[in-house]
Amino acid sequence: MKIIELSNVSKAFKGQLLFNDVNLTIEKGRIYGLVGPNGSGKSVLFKMICGFIKPDQGQIIIHSDYRRKGTDFPHQFGVIIDRPGYIGNISGFENLKRWASILNLVKDEQIKDTMRLVGLNPDTPQKVRNYSLGMKQKLAFAQAIMEDQEVLILDESFNALDADSVINTRKLLLSYKQEGKTILLTSHNREDIDILCDDVIQITNQRLERLVNVGD
Ligand SMILES: Nc1ncnc2c1ncn2[C@@H]1O[C@H](COP(=O)(O)OP(=O)(O)OP(=O)(O)O)[C@@H](O)[C@H]1O
Ligand SMILES: [Mg+2]
Repeated sequence: MKIIELSNVSKAFKGQLLFNDVNLTIEKGRIYGLVGPNGSGKSVLFKMICGFIKPDQGQIIIHSDYRRKGTDFPHQFGVIIDRPGYIGNISGFENLKRWASILNLVKDEQIKDTMRLVGLNPDTPQKVRNYSLGMKQKLAFAQAIMEDQEVLILDESFNALDADSVINTRKLLLSYKQEGKTILLTSHNREDIDILCDDVIQITNQRLERLVNVGD
């Protein structure tokens, strides 16, 4: 089943062309890795898929099951792109609770379970501004998964994680795939891509090139 379809998408910023007439189909239940050098447009592509920015030309179609009725907002998407907006002077749990209050789908206990799952202590009163980089990354990951979203858009979600946390996160993502979830991710660590991804998409010369992932 097609979840996301990009058709003839072009995007430029102030004359800098990032995507030139690209097409891409994302199928349910697979893990896709998006690779390309710094500044090649990975985060921009994810933002376009989430509807945060519009393409200059072409269309991005999200399957209706994954959109809220009457809107383009893909409510079934759990997203980490760039640095998420946190409130620094409250705890991690309080931050997630505020996020959860938007859709009101998850109870406190589920939020706490999610925090434990990613390796955070939900009961610590520690303020988020005092979190380490890796802890902030885990909090972002918790936010992306806490509502049991069907599609995960994870932009560099492995950054700053320690070795055990990387292994834990990889296991979690593979188990989500088993459940039929769909994952799009970027990582500058080729090992993440090789271990996790069924399909690898490389940005080359403003085009998307599909590579076969043979693993190393
Ligand atoms: N809102 C914006 N306005 C103007 N230029 C932008 C905007 N967003 C991104 N860009 C530019 O688009 C290019 C691609 O940025 P993007 O963040 O997608 O790169 P990336 O592939 O994610 O890089 P990295 O590997 O460093 O994360 C960059 O040159 C960036 O400066
Ligand atoms: Mg980026």
